[in-house]
Amino acid sequence: MALFNKDKIAAIRGSNDNKPLIMLIDDEPDNLTVLVDLLGAQYRLMTSPNGRDAYAQIQAMDNREELSLIISDQRMPEMTGTELFAQIKDLIPDTVRIILTGYADVKAIIDAINDANIYKFMLKPYDPPQLLLTVKRALEYADMKRKIRRYTKTLETKVTERTLALQQKNAELEQKKDQLVMQEKMAAMGVLTGGLAHEFRNPLNFITNLSRMMCELVAEGRALLHQPLDEAGKIALDGVFEDLHANADVINTQSGHMNRIVDAMAAMIRPTSGQKRPTPLNEFAAEYVNFAYHHHKLVHGGLSVDLMFHLDERLGDIMINPQTLSHALLNLANNAIEAVSGETGKAGRVVLKTQQVADGVIIRLEDNGCGIKETDHTKVFEPFHTAKGVRSGHIGLGLSVAYDIVVKEHGGDLTLQSKAGEGTVVSIHLPA
Ligand SMILES: Nc1ncnc2c1ncn2[C@@H]1O[C@H](COP(=O)(O)OP(=O)(O)OP(=O)(O)O)[C@@H](O)[C@H]1O
Ligand SMILES: [Mg+2]
Repeated sequence: MALFNKDKIAAIRGSNDNKPLIMLIDDEPDNLTVLVDLLGAQYRLMTSPNGRDAYAQIQAMDNREELSLIISDQRMPEMTGTELFAQIKDLIPDTVRIILTGYADVKAIIDAINDANIYKFMLKPYDPPQLLLTVKRALEYADMKRKIRRYTKTLETKVTERTLALQQKNAELEQKKDQLVMQEKMAAMGVLTGGLAHEFRNPLNFITNLSRMMCELVAEGRALLHQPLDEAGKIALDGVFEDLHANADVINTQSGHMNRIVDAMAAMIRPTSGQKRPTPLNEFAAEYVNFAYHHHKLVHGGLSVDLMFHLDERLGDIMINPQTLSHALLNLANNAIEAVSGETGKAGRVVLKTQQVADGVIIRLEDNGCGIKETDHTKVFEPFHTAKGVRSGHIGLGLSVAYDIVVKEHGGDLTLQSKAGEGTVVSIHLPA
């Protein structure tokens, strides 16, 4: 049996190579020496004569995680091997533990498994090749544990880094989105203000010029009244009144037009409210097309339009903003009804169709009205484009507002197919 040799052990401990580091604990110096002889050539070794000293050594180490394996005797004074292992479990969680014992101590084995998380329990006297093999396996196991921990740590760091990066990206995107929405709003405001200025200039010119003329006419009438009113004077005064009336009439029409623009603008602003919520689409669409139809009947009377519904029964609740989409539907239904109520020489027909498709739903409004000539197909979506004339009360915002609601707010499509003299089909496609 080789003798316990302090110098030899110190030399082994001092060798600073990449060999795995093992701690050997036994209160019998001879036993330690045997182990050192057996393992010293292949591994870096630390030794300790008892549990208390071992614990102190481990605590003092600043490279604790390098300690791959501890082989400890079970029966030692003051502290058993399993007691020591239970104490250092949290201090060095990746270090693999082996107990050597001369007794088949059942309690110790159970304690070891339950409390100290021991890799192997070996009975003395052990077979050296068997011990070497066990040490080799235990070190492989330690290495694997360490790799897993390192990998988990890297993964955790990576996940944290990625999450942080994503959060940052998200915040940037949100900020960009807000900026874009703001820019879009400003651009829309620009277009709208430009359009408004243009729309208001004519009626305002009329009102300014005609009211000035009216002042002159009043002065003219007063002058006539200050003279003796003969027949010619009466005719002249009547002419003044007639002109005053005509001017007031034009002012009334023009201010009415401006009023309608202001009303439409208010209605346009209102649809930005409301929230998306599940809505039964068939009932919803039918209700608003019906409403437009009855409204026309009431206002214009004698409307003879055939209103038909082809609704896809598979359609259930769809996420929409009913407040705004109802506005869009009303605009489209009004256009369809107005198109068939003119002099088209045929019986008017408006059909509402809904259809479930793979990527969403389609709402179609078909009419056999006057249709739109091809060169106007894109123009009709421009704000203030109307072919209905100033006196009609239309200001040409219906389609542009509907387009904004369907495309910009709901992320859908609004398309128009039309042939002059034959009719028009407007389709809304809403994504699922
Ligand atoms: N279904 C349709 N059939 C024929 N023409 C249409 C139809 N829908 C729209 N149009 C044409 O497109 C133009 C623009 O429509 P839009 O709804 O934007 O404005 P409007 O109906 O003229 O006015 P508003 O809707 O503001 O009362 C209309 O003036 C009309 O010429
Ligand atoms: Mg319209």
